[in-house]
Amino acid sequence: MKILIKNGRIIDPSQDIDGIGEVFIENGKIRETTIVQKRRSTEARKVKTSELSNFRTIDASGCIVIPGLVDMHTHLREPGFEYKETIKTGTKAAARGGFTAVCCMPNTNPVNDTIAVTEFIIKKALQEGSCTVYPIGAITKSQKSEELAELEALKRSGCVAFSDDGRPVTNSLIMRHALEYSKIFDVPIISHCEDLYLSEGGVMNEGFVSTILGLRGIPKAAEEIMVARDLALCQLTGGKLHIAHVSTKGSVDLIRQAKERGINVTAETCPHYFSLTDESLVSYDTNFKVNPPVRTEKDVEAIKQGLKDGTIDVIATDHAPHHIDDKTKEFDAAAFGISGLETAFSLGLQLVEQGILNLKQLIINMSVTPSVIMRIPKGTLSSGSDADIAIINLEHSFVVDSSRFLSKGKNSPFNGWSLKGTVEKTISMGKVHDWT
Ligand code: DOR
Ligand code: ZN
Repeated sequence: MKILIKNGRIIDPSQDIDGIGEVFIENGKIRETTIVQKRRSTEARKVKTSELSNFRTIDASGCIVIPGLVDMHTHLREPGFEYKETIKTGTKAAARGGFTAVCCMPNTNPVNDTIAVTEFIIKKALQEGSCTVYPIGAITKSQKSEELAELEALKRSGCVAFSDDGRPVTNSLIMRHALEYSKIFDVPIISHCEDLYLSEGGVMNEGFVSTILGLRGIPKAAEEIMVARDLALCQLTGGKLHIAHVSTKGSVDLIRQAKERGINVTAETCPHYFSLTDESLVSYDTNFKVNPPVRTEKDVEAIKQGLKDGTIDVIATDHAPHHIDDKTKEFDAAAFGISGLETAFSLGLQLVEQGILNLKQLIINMSVTPSVIMRIPKGTLSSGSDADIAIINLEHSFVVDSSRFLSKGKNSPFNGWSLKGTVEKTISMGKVHDWT
């Protein structure tokens, strides 16, 4: 299958490209990306005009054409929780959101702490997936913080990183060893930073609003203590540490200082941490219940500043789909998590509208940098790379209707929000997905 995407504004930060141009796709790979204005004055297009009739043409007028988004923090729920999401539905949701690659967290059932589970995920994704899936293996067996998983075997079978996400690694010695291995294997250790003693029983941010609502709070220190610990262990070991879902100003400050001291750390936040505050919980709507919890205006501002100055490297979704029965409960009993793949880019675009990031930076945060951190060959439109592309109309607005999500998880706090930026087409390994 040969495809030509034309008339779109191509933005590929990996090659420092921004302009109206053409992308030629052949056999699932990018054959050529050229900027039309540049070409007239300097170089000639390599694809000959006589060949053009062999290409299916996609007219991307009025749209941006960018490297497919890469989510380094997705929960696909399979195996074990197929009633919440499957590899098939989760990757459809990813494609709908402009993502062409997702890295899936190991808190499935069984946990992805064995070669068998890793191989199952990879095989299933190849058979049924709408985008590329990279498994993340567990740091500890059954995510129990008692014993390291077989990291080397997991890496050899296809895991691109390790995390006990959903839970912290409570044992600092085990975390030390994991970081030592991360240096040897050159794979990131993704840390879910939470002091379980401090957060126990908490369901939202601890502060004024939790007091008013009578809900048990999770203090910011529950996150920051573990960020500080892991930064210290990262310094000790020289390992490759990535901090997941940063939610507080204190964490941003700690990471900024650590980077200034030359510590090998990267960090992500998620759209809900720069779009929502704990005041939104006055509705007692469990769709706002997420771990770590959404915080305060001061934290939101610090997260934005952290993205602006590069302290936070990545916007990931922490796509955490849940069945309606897990959310339609009293607040204390409802599951933590937000179904995020289908709103992430548009929420990121709000940062561009607010002047916090420019479009290029947003694409770097959502495609280029996660690919670099995970060492996966994505996030570029360069010749010879996988034909992974998102075509997005930045001006089109839409009203979020989570009942129409392709994800099984309809649990979105953004339901009813009016957002800009519609994903018109996602092309994954040369295969076109659209919804018209
Ligand atoms: O809100 C969350 N949901 N936070 C996590 O750390 C885990 C996730 C899940 O798996 O549902
Ligand atoms: Zn997660």
